[in-house]
Amino acid sequence: MKALILVGGFGTRLRPLTLSVPKPLVEFANKPMILHQIEALKAIGVTEVVLAINYQPEVMMNFLKEFEEKVGIKITCSQETEPLGTAGPLALAKDKLIDDSGSPFFVLNSDVISDYPFKEMIEFHNAHGGEASIMVTKVDEPSKYGVVVMEEATGKVERFVEKPKLFVGNKINAGIYLLNPSVLDRIELKPTSIEKEIFPKIAAEEKLYAMTLPGFWMDIGQPKDYITGLTLYLDSLRKKSPSKLASGSNIVGNVLVHETAKIGEGCLIGPDVAIGPGCVIESGVRLSRCTMMRGVRIKNHACISSSIIGWHSTVGQWARVENMTILGEDVHVGDEVYSNGGVVLPHKEIKSSILKPEIVM
Ligand code: GDD
Ligand code: MG
Repeated sequence: MKALILVGGFGTRLRPLTLSVPKPLVEFANKPMILHQIEALKAIGVTEVVLAINYQPEVMMNFLKEFEEKVGIKITCSQETEPLGTAGPLALAKDKLIDDSGSPFFVLNSDVISDYPFKEMIEFHNAHGGEASIMVTKVDEPSKYGVVVMEEATGKVERFVEKPKLFVGNKINAGIYLLNPSVLDRIELKPTSIEKEIFPKIAAEEKLYAMTLPGFWMDIGQPKDYITGLTLYLDSLRKKSPSKLASGSNIVGNVLVHETAKIGEGCLIGPDVAIGPGCVIESGVRLSRCTMMRGVRIKNHACISSSIIGWHSTVGQWARVENMTILGEDVHVGDEVYSNGGVVLPHKEIKSSILKPEIVM
């Protein structure tokens, strides 16, 4: 079985992190986003993953070559010369997606995190006999997504409306599809939206079915959702493999600490924190709802909440960083500085406080 992951787009909503690496390579819970997906695909027997790329293909491929061997899966690249949207890349990769057995293939948005119930999805797909299956999930704010109206008993999709202005329903497209090869005959090699142009047509022919995703789901392509996604992911990890989470008197709730990270005396860490490789958390530090990317140093008595600290950045002693502060790579926040929602571009030094949410260039 094969799979295609849509890894185009510039990831602008996840800047400044995506100024350093393409969105799919941004770590989530100490692992590049896309690796969570590739490992889950491998686990259910997918043998080849095609990455549909439209920018920085070398960066992606160099990085993934390393994992090809580790994970034991073939990773190839299908590169667009112009952005082809969410369906055009399928037409471009047509030859790679069809195999002799004529079996269906998976398509994933690269920024969605869940338990990836691919096995259940294959069973669902085989049972309904339609042409395409999509995963759906319930959300509070459906207007940010593709909304799916379906027949509850069978899952048959009646309508698919991308980013509706008016309320149509609260079940949304989770960005995980299983498609028969015949879907490829519906897509032309030009910029095309699978959500706006392809799914509504398949739905009109009553061949599109939706399965409600069991477990958690989040599109982590924006900072606020990234942090919410981390909470959900760690919660799920607590149920599935609690031994992967940190424990001890200085830990509150679900916390993931890389084995090479160091944590000083008298810290209080958690809930919902991920600390990456090589991080140094000095003494008396307070961390909650936040992510430290590789090589971060947090100095004595700093306090960080609801924030993402980019690769190799430092936060000075007694500093307070909160409210969706996002530090890019190699940012240095001075001692006693306060950041309230600062979004700081890479390689900056912050010497005075950021009092309200703003972008620091
Ligand atoms: N190769 C390629 N080329 N990939 C692309 C392109 C392109 O031109 N444009 C977007 N992508 C990729 C993105 O990298 C992402 O993995 C996926 O297509 C979806 O794009 P997003 O920009 O993340 O879309 P969205 O989050 O606004 O909406 C989509 O995802 C929602 C679920 O998270 C839609 O599929 C919605 O229907 C869905 O609900
Ligand atoms: Mg998205």
